[in-house]
Amino acid sequence: MASAKHEWSGWRTAAERALYGAGGFFRRPEGPAGHFRTSVHASPLFARGVAELLCRVDEALGHPAEVALVDLGAGRGELLTRVLALAPGLPHGLGRRLRPYAVERAERPAGLDGRIAWRDASPEGCAGLLFANEWLDNVPVDVAETDADGVPRRVEVDLVSLDGAERLGDPVDGEDAAWLARWWPLAGAEPGLRAEIGHPREAAWARAVGSLRAGLAVAVDYAHERAARPPFGTLTGFREGREVRPVPDGSCDLTAHVAMDACAAATAPGARLMTQREALRALGLDARRPPLALAATDPSAYVRALSAAGEAAELIDPAGLGAFTWLLHPVNLPQDVLRP
Ligand SMILES: C[S@@+](CC[C@H](N)C(=O)[O-])C[C@H]1O[C@@H](n2cnc3c(N)ncnc32)[C@H](O)[C@@H]1O
Repeated sequence: MASAKHEWSGWRTAAERALYGAGGFFRRPEGPAGHFRTSVHASPLFARGVAELLCRVDEALGHPAEVALVDLGAGRGELLTRVLALAPGLPHGLGRRLRPYAVERAERPAGLDGRIAWRDASPEGCAGLLFANEWLDNVPVDVAETDADGVPRRVEVDLVSLDGAERLGDPVDGEDAAWLARWWPLAGAEPGLRAEIGHPREAAWARAVGSLRAGLAVAVDYAHERAARPPFGTLTGFREGREVRPVPDGSCDLTAHVAMDACAAATAPGARLMTQREALRALGLDARRPPLALAATDPSAYVRALSAAGEAAELIDPAGLGAFTWLLHPVNLPQDVLRP
């Protein structure tokens, strides 16, 4: 029987299979950290900032008997492992009241701390902090490109060759066209402009926020807003620390920046956007170098403080991780826990 030479589909279907299907990229044993570095891996200071935020949420909730920390898109549980290491020192006995949940499509890694519940969906009805670092950029989306007449068409990719070959499919219509018109207008634009159609991320985010009974939901990602969308889109691949051509064969991450303003508008009013630099500074992260005098009185403390300042500087670098966007959505939370 002759096999099909091509099978064309949109990027949303292709990325869903390549990332999460059997043998998909995020199911590989090395995990995301084998291919790229997020803020979680960059420094334990990131987990310290998340722990501080958790304490503030706990305070605002009045120190309930159980406080959930839901890590959505948890990788191999690195963030929760680091927060648990800080748990004994958290105020008001929060360490004992903490319920850590890793929400992940990959399998539970061997040797993970037994206190961490590993689930494939967010727990419903918890009170606490839901934190999603670099999750939304991996929620697959379709891509549109304007043809020679300026008509936005769905970009299709070959599921047989799996080499990233693309063609333009039908004109974008329905919900996709409505989303583009509102958030990333392409119609009538010059040929070859591209956009990633973000509504699946809004739906995913709204579900995540809706899973909380009370507390704060936070999504952190590289993002753009309507006034400055990238004209050719951002879909790309990552493999072993390098940016590569996006190929839907399960060998690389497939990621696209997040239209975070659209996600913010997808839930009830009250969402707020800020940069990671603003957020971590508001949580007490300090990138100032220690006083030189410390080097003379306590050289090892000086070296430790210098190294921490360097790590903090990387996390809040306005040209790097500090430019990431934090989307905050309080749910039945009586006070603002993160004033800039
Ligand atoms: C870029 S990694 C980030 C890992 C970790 N949060 C970090 O910052 O290092 C994205 C992770 O989200 C997971 N993921 C994507 N969609 C998911 C979903 N709907 N439910 C649970 N996990 C998901 C992927 O399997 C992957 O491990």
